[in-house]
Amino acid sequence: MSALRFSDTISAALTDGVIVVTIDNAPVNALSADVRAGLMAALDHAENESAIAGVVLTGAGNSFIGGADIKEFGKPPVEPLLPDVIARIETFPKPVAAAINGAALGGGLEVALACHRRYAAPAAKLGLPEVKLGIVPGAGGTQRLPRLIGTAAAIDMIAGGRIISASEALKLGIVDRVSESTLLADTIADIKNADASSLRRTGMLSVPSALIETTEKAAADALRKARGQRAPTEAVRLVRLSATAPLAEGLAEERRTFLELRDSEEATALRHVFFAERAAGKVEGLEAVTPRRIETVGIVGTGLMGSGIAVAALNGGYRVIGVEQSAEAAEKGRERIAGILDKAVQSGRLDAAGREDRLSRLSVTADMQQLGQADIVIEAVFDDLTVKTELFQRLDTIVRADAILATNTSYLDPDVIAAATARPERVVGLHFFSPAHIMRLLEVVNCKKTAPEVLASALAFAKRLSKLPIVCGVTEGFIGNRVFSAYRREAEYMVEDGALPDEIDAALEAYGFPMGLFAVYDMAGLEIAWARRKRQAATRNPAERYVVIADRLCEAGRFGQKAGRGWYAYPDGKRTIDPDVTAMIEAARAEKGIVPKRFTAEEIVARLLKAMSDEGDVLLAEGIAARASDIDLVMINGYGFPSSKGGPMFAAGRR
Ligand code: 3HC
Repeated sequence: MSALRFSDTISAALTDGVIVVTIDNAPVNALSADVRAGLMAALDHAENESAIAGVVLTGAGNSFIGGADIKEFGKPPVEPLLPDVIARIETFPKPVAAAINGAALGGGLEVALACHRRYAAPAAKLGLPEVKLGIVPGAGGTQRLPRLIGTAAAIDMIAGGRIISASEALKLGIVDRVSESTLLADTIADIKNADASSLRRTGMLSVPSALIETTEKAAADALRKARGQRAPTEAVRLVRLSATAPLAEGLAEERRTFLELRDSEEATALRHVFFAERAAGKVEGLEAVTPRRIETVGIVGTGLMGSGIAVAALNGGYRVIGVEQSAEAAEKGRERIAGILDKAVQSGRLDAAGREDRLSRLSVTADMQQLGQADIVIEAVFDDLTVKTELFQRLDTIVRADAILATNTSYLDPDVIAAATARPERVVGLHFFSPAHIMRLLEVVNCKKTAPEVLASALAFAKRLSKLPIVCGVTEGFIGNRVFSAYRREAEYMVEDGALPDEIDAALEAYGFPMGLFAVYDMAGLEIAWARRKRQAATRNPAERYVVIADRLCEAGRFGQKAGRGWYAYPDGKRTIDPDVTAMIEAARAEKGIVPKRFTAEEIVARLLKAMSDEGDVLLAEGIAARASDIDLVMINGYGFPSSKGGPMFAAGRR
């Protein structure tokens, strides 16, 4: 075996007449200019050397190729371009195989698709997730994947940006074999014996025409989910084109679309979100801290929130001990958790064996002493300070000295809860969003005395729960509810100033929110916020502007959708403008002598964005949020802010 080097990131070794070309561009082997140039040089070498019978491409470390280098987007192009490298692979006169050792995503999968054979390790992940970055695949993915697996499956993967396992890739026919432990040896052996005249060039394969019906269904599903977003819509169009246009034409149209979308505002915003998520994981002061091992999770309270947290923990592979006040309540809690798992089975997201495995790791009991076994205990009981502090005092006498105590409070001060224990340094806030097994956002509250090891452990725990943890300091409502309150307040001011709720909702929905604010109010119910306002009435600053309309709605029994009426009326369940509400709004304006003015949709959005980002600036100044992009992630993942706009801070230019 002799070692060769073709660029800083491309090395190769000759084994048995086969050249194994390794892409080593940490951290994810992205296709930088150096990688592309090195690959071209390696292919030139392989073509000219008569002793080389074939080529194997593989990646160093955990990735095969993580895609095009996103950091190069927006910079002038450097040759060779990726489509040229890929065309060279596809038309290479000697057999080329991909030994997919890890993630083959975006341009990485496109490289593999051009190879004549594809073998994967069991842990490999494959996908064309470009739509998540607001773009379409730009190096043949929309044309070669459907030629390999059909248009319906290709639409499903590309328009949804779905990442699949090696075993699913094998079932779909994307990879030829999954090799357990001998990936490279298998690939080399196969390529050595491959007949150059029978090379399978994916680009030359034609799409089966019998699949028109399934294609239509996949396209309709994808377009419905795309909700007008450009990238998935274009992805569907391009995959359809692969069924009718010759390869060269399809590739040219794909590239044109890719370049156009790459420079769009939507793609710029989604790239911001991508890098924001990576930045959020880096917490100052924790660089050298090792998280402690967590195996057993205790959850006090198995109601709506507690049962969702339990499912998230079971999904993360933990043992879960749920605690309730009575044997009867424990049984109900267990049923609630099993019910969520049953729904997952019904919808095909979980198989029966997965359900059994999870239930075998669950116990729900009325015996709080069981929590002596837990590494972390999360309380998910009624959000009342006395209830929570008393509970923490009790837990303090039960749980091990090194266990972590986490509070899931939304509005209470976790420092006060921590102070009720003899171990405030082991207390952290974990603010889950409902439903906790689905919502990705988790605000991890770094309390005044939280030890770095506890914070690091909470973050590692959150990651294993597949959550997006955002660290925040102690403040009422944490990052999300603070920004949301500012947004809500401003929306109500605007109603008083002249905009009607449906105008505000229409502007928000056109901007990309799945649902307007007032429709969300109605869906969630107005009574809880009303009760809170009444509690706060005595301490409210009389100088602060206060809008009474929501109180009037509640006084009139308009508690939202469940009551059949709230900010809107719901005849036959359909959201409708209610003239009674308009009259109440007009009366409230008249009482204050406000002359209503008209707002355009742009003005509505601009005013709400300003309110949110102003509050974000305050959170940054107070040190509650570490960076503006963390605030963006909270609002996108917890409050429906459209990711295609990058979050309120990004959209308002506060970057
Ligand atoms: N380009 C540049 N940097 C990248 C990158 C890429 N494609 N993918 C990841 N990175 C960087 C991250 O920013 C991060 O950098 P940092 O350490 O400085 O913050 C580092 O690599 C590690 O990333 P993760 O924390 O995400 O590492 P994981 O091990 O958790 O995940 C991964 C690895 C699954 C490969 C994940 O990084 C990922 O999903 N990457 C993006 C994949 C993707 O979207 N590819 C398509 C790109 S567009 C494209 O290919 C266009 C083509 O069609 C022409």
